[in-house]
Amino acid sequence: MEQALDIAKNNLPVKGFLDLKDIQIPQGQDLIDAILKLKKEKNAVILAHYYQPGEIQDIADYLGDSLQLARAAKDTDADMIAFCGVHFMAEAAKILNPTKKVVLPDTLAGCSLADGCSGEGLRKMREQHPGALVATYINCNAETKAESDIIVTSSNAETIINALPKDQPIIFAPDKNLGRYLMKKTGRDMILWDGSCIVHEAFSMERIAKQLAENPDAKLIAHPESETPVLELAHFIGSTSALLNYVEKDDCQKFIIATEEGILHEMKKRAPHKELIPALVFDESCNCSECFFMKRNTLEKLYLCMKYELPEITMDEELRLKALKPIEAMLELSKTIK
Ligand code: 13P
Ligand code: SF4
Repeated sequence: MEQALDIAKNNLPVKGFLDLKDIQIPQGQDLIDAILKLKKEKNAVILAHYYQPGEIQDIADYLGDSLQLARAAKDTDADMIAFCGVHFMAEAAKILNPTKKVVLPDTLAGCSLADGCSGEGLRKMREQHPGALVATYINCNAETKAESDIIVTSSNAETIINALPKDQPIIFAPDKNLGRYLMKKTGRDMILWDGSCIVHEAFSMERIAKQLAENPDAKLIAHPESETPVLELAHFIGSTSALLNYVEKDDCQKFIIATEEGILHEMKKRAPHKELIPALVFDESCNCSECFFMKRNTLEKLYLCMKYELPEITMDEELRLKALKPIEAMLELSKTIK
């Protein structure tokens, strides 16, 4: 209980809003039942990313990657969106569906890519390259989106970069690893922002090569946020949903997975008889590849955020409209992508 109160204290940003000693957080099945009851009472929808803790994935109404979740947020007619993912994802939901109340279990669920690329920084980069188009990965905050011409996600980035006018230079932000991968795939020379994902850049090419040597019947699959040496070893590179589909449909029975470990929860459900091995990271004392930010969300925090409708994502309308434009441009160009 003490731990739950701590969670509540850290998570409810409005001082004096509640007497925290009075907060009772149900446990176990009661907690799940209480969340489902709140969902009904408040006409809420729970959206969750594949990197969320398994117990959150299990009670979500909709489970998806960034593109799928953005679409689900845009299309929902629920009154409240409880967004179980990281902050930029919940913010994108608010940008796309501003009349809904969007709550996030933990406002500190950030992202190293989003945190490393400010709107002002991107504006300065743009000024240094007049005439360049700015294509920005959805892993960024609203101010950064507002400085962009088009947003991409890992599942539509290649299609979108290929669709941009060939005679215009492209600035790609903030993920240099995804940017390098796209340059190789599309043949477009892009000006890259120097950002990276702390989870995907932690994979060790040497240790993964050893894993492959020890498992000659396994295929290595990787998210394009991984560094080039890891991608060069991979049998398949794809977005979160592409990796899930690949494991489900490919004939191979054993996979080494170079992406955030939360994905294994859904992979095991879709391919229960296949062997799934998390790829190894540099730090030998930690064989995990978990996103610390994604894992800030817990069922307790989800319960609290739905009950007290806090922390809520709010946004200045002028900023929202500026950030909406490049997201809409993305949705228009990725209609054929599931
Ligand atoms: P997806 O676009 O594949 O969902 O990836 C989101 C993300 O944060 C990857 O690290
Ligand atoms: Fe951001 Fe990386 Fe976590 Fe995805 S896995 S949310 S890119 S820090």
